[in-house]
Amino acid sequence: MADKKAILKVDGIDEALELPVYEGTVGPDVVDVRSLTSKGLFTYDPGFMSTAATESKITYIDGAAGILLHRGYPIEQLAEKSDYLETCYLLIHGELPNAEQKATFVSTIKNHTMVHEQLSHFFNGFRRDAHPMAVMCGVVGALSAFYHDSLDIHDDHHRLVSAHRLIAKMPTLAAMVYKYSIGQPFMYPRNELSYSENFLHMMFNTPCDEKKISPILAKAMDRIFLLHADHEQNASTSTVRLAGSTGANPFACIASGIAALWGPAHGGANEAVLNMLAEIGDESNIDAFIAKAKDKDDPFRLMGFGHRVYKNFDPRAKVMKQTCDEVLSELGMLDDPLLKIAMKLEKIATEDEYFVKRGLYPNVDFYSGIILKAIGIPTEMFTVIFATGRTPGWIAHWNEMISSDYRIGRPRQLYTGHAKRDYPA
Ligand code: SDX
Repeated sequence: MADKKAILKVDGIDEALELPVYEGTVGPDVVDVRSLTSKGLFTYDPGFMSTAATESKITYIDGAAGILLHRGYPIEQLAEKSDYLETCYLLIHGELPNAEQKATFVSTIKNHTMVHEQLSHFFNGFRRDAHPMAVMCGVVGALSAFYHDSLDIHDDHHRLVSAHRLIAKMPTLAAMVYKYSIGQPFMYPRNELSYSENFLHMMFNTPCDEKKISPILAKAMDRIFLLHADHEQNASTSTVRLAGSTGANPFACIASGIAALWGPAHGGANEAVLNMLAEIGDESNIDAFIAKAKDKDDPFRLMGFGHRVYKNFDPRAKVMKQTCDEVLSELGMLDDPLLKIAMKLEKIATEDEYFVKRGLYPNVDFYSGIILKAIGIPTEMFTVIFATGRTPGWIAHWNEMISSDYRIGRPRQLYTGHAKRDYPA
């Protein structure tokens, strides 16, 4: 696979070190540094800014050009022409399904949407006002208790059944998390409904009143899930891969991904965006918040702006903004005050030299919260929605790793602590 090489000259080592360089289909070449350990050297890259931790065929991001491909298909085309479950199939299997494969996949997912009845007892241990992500971490991890023994992660079929179970059950669990927080009874999934209709049914219907789900809201929900489905080696996906490299079962690995996603620098940003827009409260306050975001002595950052990889624009944000306009106009909410503040904030920030120079543009989280709020989802549930949408991506990466010649992930370090010293006599 090595078609190029890098020559490394290190003071104190006589011979120059020759390192293989690999080319991907697209994207930067990578230098294989595995041989450095035998020379007594490590590489140093906190935050993995310049480190490819794996080879992958699932998703490709070009941060400068604002390109996002899932198995080669641009996110803009999938958002327009595909749907969430078809994108799940694509991520896991590598190709778009034909009509028969899609029908079988949709039917299989439908038949896994219920959770074990005993799982509902797990909720009672949580306070009703617990953060939904705390509950989601707990109950998804608890799925391990129901499938651990029947699962051989080295069996392709067992891995596929786990993938189906997780994709199918995440919306059911997410809706249960919400219902528990408001003291309403859990709603069972309905097999006659589509994936996103079913989720909104379980979220907002009650045993006393089962309304028809608005197709506008169902389509917006499906688009939200699709735009969150995968994003290469982001922090939560890398967490799932690292947990999976120990041989942990997939339910525990996905629970670790949910925990990592919770942080406000990552998936928790969508909740933080809405809280920030509410705190701004009026367009007249925007300049003060921009100043705070630029102030090095102030930890405040403009939530929903910036990205580790996208330094031009996040293509998902563009589709999300278009979806936001469609949903709010179809719902007659274009005068939503938070949307007006968001649009003014985006205009000011993307013309401000501080943000432009640092490549800080709206990311996927900037507009998603406004759509979720219009659908009726409470702010503290936003990251649970993100975790639900990201599940196929986490599973696809876990499956790709387990199916490959993987080794347990175990980074090294630059040690700057005490040298060996003796315990005082
Ligand atoms: C997601 O990785 C993924 O793919 C993630 C994700 C996915 O789908 O999985 O895309 C989802 O997590 C999107 C990002 C959501 N997070 C936010 O919106 C929170 C706000 N954004 C920042 O926390 C930040 O931009 C990050 C964490 C997203 C990226 O951080 P980096 O790449 O480590 O950038 P950095 O912290 O080194 O910042 C570079 C400069 C710094 O200023 P200088 O030291 O150069 O003067 O930009 C500044 C930062 O202070 N900066 C910001 C800022 N983000 C970066 N300043 C103000 N507001 C911000 N939002």
